[in-house]
Amino acid sequence: MCGIVGYIGKDNAKNIVINGLKRLEYRGYDSAGVAFIDSGKLKIYKKSGKIRNLEFELNKDLSLPHVAIGHTRWATHGEPNDINAHPHVDCTGKIAVVHNGIIENFAELRKSLESKGHKFKSQTDTEVIAHLVEEEIQEGKDLREAVLSAVAKLKGSYAAAVIYEDEPDKIVCVRKDSPLVIGIGEGENFIASDVPAFLSYTNKVIFLDDNECAVITADNVQIFDLNGHKVEKEIKEIPWSIAQAEKGGYKHFMLKEIYEQPKAIADTISGKLSIFEEKNKKILTDFSKIQIVACGTSFHAGLIGKFFIESISRIPVSVDYASEYRYRNPIIDNKTLIIAISQSGETADTLAAVRLARKEGAKVVAICNVIGSTITREADYTIYTHAGPEISVASTKAFTTQLAALFLFAVEVAKVRKVIDKETENKLLNALSEIPKKLKTFLDTENEKKLIRKIALEFYNSQDALYLGRFVNYPIALEGALKLKEISYIHAEGYPAGEMKHGPIALIDEKLPVVVIAPKDRVYEKMVSNIEEVKARKGKVIAVTNANCPEIKKLADFTIEIPATEELLYPFLTVVPLQLFAYHIADFLGYDVDQPRNLAKSVTVE
Ligand code: AGP
Repeated sequence: MCGIVGYIGKDNAKNIVINGLKRLEYRGYDSAGVAFIDSGKLKIYKKSGKIRNLEFELNKDLSLPHVAIGHTRWATHGEPNDINAHPHVDCTGKIAVVHNGIIENFAELRKSLESKGHKFKSQTDTEVIAHLVEEEIQEGKDLREAVLSAVAKLKGSYAAAVIYEDEPDKIVCVRKDSPLVIGIGEGENFIASDVPAFLSYTNKVIFLDDNECAVITADNVQIFDLNGHKVEKEIKEIPWSIAQAEKGGYKHFMLKEIYEQPKAIADTISGKLSIFEEKNKKILTDFSKIQIVACGTSFHAGLIGKFFIESISRIPVSVDYASEYRYRNPIIDNKTLIIAISQSGETADTLAAVRLARKEGAKVVAICNVIGSTITREADYTIYTHAGPEISVASTKAFTTQLAALFLFAVEVAKVRKVIDKETENKLLNALSEIPKKLKTFLDTENEKKLIRKIALEFYNSQDALYLGRFVNYPIALEGALKLKEISYIHAEGYPAGEMKHGPIALIDEKLPVVVIAPKDRVYEKMVSNIEEVKARKGKVIAVTNANCPEIKKLADFTIEIPATEELLYPFLTVVPLQLFAYHIADFLGYDVDQPRNLAKSVTVE
């Protein structure tokens, strides 16, 4: 998820675009760049790191351009550096492109363009767009026609904006599966990935829909479908403050990121029927045991990964807190595969565990959300989650996308080792591909009914809480407890429900909220009896279950219904109510949910 901004009008386009990029820095912040046309010449500035690095360079340029496009990057293809930063240009250096999204067929397009003599400078997928537009312009098309013909060859998602030295009076932009909005001004117009970029100049907007293209001049905005037919669009007024807008209208980034999970999971799954290119397949066959290392929420994802891998590909898996792994003298050899899970890719303990394992001859697969981060550079192979930047310290969408990556890994290993047949493989992948839709349905219903918010209102003054789950939902009990602890500072404990009678049951009385995760799976009956044990001691039960579970509805004080799915996949659905429960409690307590006390988004020290 990157941020793009464009401006055409009477003012200094450079400054307006830079200010817009700063407002979109939450969308990606590993590199940035601007292209503008001044006195008939296209100029490009791009820099890795924060936008202030780019601004420093740009301030040395005294030109006052009236048209510019800019980009703040969240790398998906190619390391974050000055060359891979956007904008990207064609061979003539007259066409500049900024892009948010993923071009899935970029490799084959690049090959065919290189065979025609095009010279590529970057490792990005985006650069193919600039060269494709160049091809069309050389065939005599104008910029609009050239962009329409170019995008017809693209597969994947894109919001892109293009400027052309020979047509300096316009910006042409196009969208498919990535957001793009146009800001309507007086004698000036704006484009951006999100409203915050230009909300301080105008709140009159046109939201571009998928498969639409816009030609923006200082005095006019024309919208076309991808066949070039004109489309009439309504101008809407945005009633938000800037701060509100950055959060997309949500009160906190955490709530926004919870609601982004259906798309984040879909993006992580999309196009990934095989997560390992042919050349890397060997890594899947060359080991006899797996050791998962991670910290915090990523560790909980690892625990669920063990269920996925052992039950689907029948390979033994151990899961360690990285901070313990590095000192317990683990048994590692060249038949050991390490899976290092980290949202940030910078967590010191996980990094140290990776270095220890590599020194002992193990191969390392990283599951990470940040391209170019240290762990991805030290791993033999990285599976990227496509959650986009996760701003809130409390990890939510990174967790569910890690589960998606682990599930795909388990299926891939089982397939390569012929442990499962095609039918089972399809059944598993189809069930996974239905999760985003099921989750969206659940979130839309919650958004309407606010049931979990009402339940949170009953418990935000609690001193303690107990979370219980069994089988693949036992780690979800741990994750639910961690979410409550880290943002509401209420002491909470997650426990395998079967363990309750060996100790924690002593905690239960009428003041203790007990969150039970009990979908209709192989341990459902066991969970029903555990709830009866809690109720027998007057505990307050909040049950996450399915619609067709009358026994639980009768017993529980509060019931949160989730959609049905394959039993192994329930963690994707059971964790979200727990994220929301913790969020609403912290919000009722008035805490800064996105920046909780004592915590950092990435723990880079031991
Ligand atoms: C989770 O909400 C916390 N932010 C924390 O436990 C986090 O999961 C842990 O620090 C690991 O971070 P990583 O995934 O970036 O390595």
